[in-house]
Amino acid sequence: MRKNIVAGNWKMNKNLQEGIALAKELNEALTADKPNCDVVICTPFIHLASVTPIVDSAIIGVGAENCADKVSGAYTGEVSAEMVASTGAQYVILGHSERRSYYGETVEILEEKVKLALANNLTPIFCIGEVLEERKAEKQNEVVAAQLASVFTLSAEDFGKIILAYEPVWAIGTGLTATPEQAQDIHAYIRSLIAEKYGQEVADNCSILYGGSCKPSNAKELFAKPDVDGGLIGGAALKVADFKGIIDAFK
Ligand code: 13P
Repeated sequence: MRKNIVAGNWKMNKNLQEGIALAKELNEALTADKPNCDVVICTPFIHLASVTPIVDSAIIGVGAENCADKVSGAYTGEVSAEMVASTGAQYVILGHSERRSYYGETVEILEEKVKLALANNLTPIFCIGEVLEERKAEKQNEVVAAQLASVFTLSAEDFGKIILAYEPVWAIGTGLTATPEQAQDIHAYIRSLIAEKYGQEVADNCSILYGGSCKPSNAKELFAKPDVDGGLIGGAALKVADFKGIIDAFK
């Protein structure tokens, strides 16, 4: 059956020294009090090679927040999936709404990124979610269905390797959280689309995380919903007490 996962997305926060200190502190806290779920931290590229050796890989996985849509070559400033994997990282967030809206990442670009991540044995944490206008117009189901096109060209075997994260854009960094019922409704819908495409077994095995103003005070209620398999955490992943409070929702 599917795994419960709490993943942190540090976004563009913490310089290298601060990032190392945060990873060490988290590692100590989770070594002392082992989590009941998988834990992942996704850091800026420059942190990866320093953070992977200081966390216990049996407790904390490490991932990037993005990778290039090209294999290698003259793409100044880009970081390939192979480079990410060479740091010891095992995961990569792809399709985050901030990448889609600020950096023009399309369904087609994301399809390439997902394929390159998988070819380099990285587990994509693939994000989908609607903006406020789309929610108000009750178009959220249509929006996530269209976004899933990037991963619905995968074979069933490859689709089985990815993690999905539903992040309503109106809840990211705003303090507004989807209600557990709103999260459950759309997670169940997403799972039904997977079942239609790949069959019930693949759908049942897919972890679908919720993201958007998740905190220790609301995590338990959200994660208690049958189709919510954990969280993708932004702001609250930057403080060990908060992040651990969310991880402990599975205890
Ligand atoms: P916040 O938890 O800060 O709302 O961010 C969510 C997010 O975007 C995680 O990827």
